Amino acid sequence: MCGIVGYIGWRDAAPLIVEGLKRLEYRGYDSFGVATENGDIRVVKRNGRISDNHLDLSALSGTIGIGHTRWATHGVPNEQNAHPHTDCSGSIAVVHNGIIENYALLRRKLTEKGHHFRSETDTEVIAHLIEEYYTGDLLAAVTETVRHLEGSYAILALAKNDPRIVAARRSSPLVLGIGDGEMLCASDITPLLDHTERAVYLEDGDIAALTPARIDVYHDGMPVERQVDHITWSVDDAKKGGFPHYMLKEIYEQPQAFYNTIKGLEGDSRLAMVRVAPELTVAACGTSYHAALIFRYLAEDYGKKRVNVELASEFKYYAPPIRELVIAVSQSGETADTLAAIDQAKAHNCPALAITNILGSSITRKADWTLFMCAGPEISVAATKSFTAQLAVFMAMVNAMCDREFDDVLAHANCSIERVLSCTLGKAVALISEAQEMFYVGRGVFYPVALEGALKMKEISYIHAEGYAAGELKHGPFALLSPETPVVAICVPGRTYGVMLSNVKEMKARGAPIIGIGIEGDTEVEQVVDVFIPVPDDHQMVQVLTVSVVLQLLAYHTACALNRDIDKPRNLAKSVTVE
Ligand code: G6P
Repeated sequence: MCGIVGYIGWRDAAPLIVEGLKRLEYRGYDSFGVATENGDIRVVKRNGRISDNHLDLSALSGTIGIGHTRWATHGVPNEQNAHPHTDCSGSIAVVHNGIIENYALLRRKLTEKGHHFRSETDTEVIAHLIEEYYTGDLLAAVTETVRHLEGSYAILALAKNDPRIVAARRSSPLVLGIGDGEMLCASDITPLLDHTERAVYLEDGDIAALTPARIDVYHDGMPVERQVDHITWSVDDAKKGGFPHYMLKEIYEQPQAFYNTIKGLEGDSRLAMVRVAPELTVAACGTSYHAALIFRYLAEDYGKKRVNVELASEFKYYAPPIRELVIAVSQSGETADTLAAIDQAKAHNCPALAITNILGSSITRKADWTLFMCAGPEISVAATKSFTAQLAVFMAMVNAMCDREFDDVLAHANCSIERVLSCTLGKAVALISEAQEMFYVGRGVFYPVALEGALKMKEISYIHAEGYAAGELKHGPFALLSPETPVVAICVPGRTYGVMLSNVKEMKARGAPIIGIGIEGDTEVEQVVDVFIPVPDDHQMVQVLTVSVVLQLLAYHTACALNRDIDKPRNLAKSVTVE
């Protein structure tokens, strides 16, 4: 986890780095720091969020610098553990994203050699190792250092009187930006957007030396050429655009994200590949896992295709009998557990297809093929438009399995999503924001929709929300129902409609206030529930989308009512690059 930014060129590095780090706060935001080189190495670090701090940057002069925003793994969040970390003499500074697995051993050996450690982090060993190997050439010292590191890293290093930034990556993202007389490097492209449209994605094992005029990349000690990609995202894509929070902006971008993703997949031969595979295994985490569960219901029901869905964090620790194609889904393309799922697929000689939102992300390098969702940058920690874009990819797959029976359904889905953006949720929010705990229930494909609704609510409102298959509530959770435990029940027409209504009545009989989501004009549901939220009467696949969007908005408005930190909920990070 963590976000890193580096700059070398003709402008003052520190303010530019600070602005870049603000774009990367979704990767971690418990502390931050910046170092510059200007005849000597200067470091400023703070506990807390960079966006909440008014940093005095006057101590940080110079046109070469590196910075970091942290999501603590080794050592509590405090100023000492914040990056950049320096060597004993303060002549070398390092920022790092990832985990050095053998850091304890390295630290012991370095301490025996007389190195003095000031933090509890794994990262500090990198600074001391570079010091150990430094004989006037930072590139050579970093090259030697990474040979001794086990684990994952994206590293930027500075040395006193060395007019370069040296960057290295293994299993953690790092992208370089090529400007005019200036170069940048960062964990993703969002800090680069103001400055350049040209990017180089480093490969695993690459080491790069950056000067204002050039980038030299080495792999296994040999110089290599890396392709220069054109960045298509705009600065506006990554800004709030007048919305109070990124999350709301991203919720509103869903009609476009769905439409763009469906359009982007038209005629894609990988859909045909999925169609002919006799069986599929999908591995993912968090919201992506819920999108995969929805796919299972749709693909098995409509496409008559067997789909196994695995939590990526579990998948790698046991040996499920996987055959055929493994699909790994990850918005960021950097989730460590999902990347490990691809290794598991390879161990079973199965090809892997990735679904991701991020061009050049690690998953695209590991997988045999990649399908891109066209959601654009998602900044808020809680996934919204990336979920809808994942559903677009999955629905396009189901459509391919069914000889494009759903072309029309998918073509108008964006308009239905648009309609629910203006739904009225005041009464439901008032009811929920009083609660300490609550349930979300659905049946069939609306069961994973309920799981995702509950996840959104707990992520950003901190209310304990449980998603359940409606029929399972009576096998235990009924004991928890009371007038203080609201239940959100998804009661749209279909095979499970009648039984859902019975379940709702059972819950109501136990005193729970019910917020029912049903189709417009459904008086039967409206009469049973305490608060009714209508969605347009539409095909089931579209209802999956519209109900999901209503549940996102419900979580959003509840969290606003509770004055929560919407875009950066406590203890979470958007991209989880640790196991
Ligand atoms: C984190 C995020 C979630 C996300 C999950 C998987 O936990 O906070 O919103 O669903 O990671 O992320 P991925 O990038 O692999 O989809």
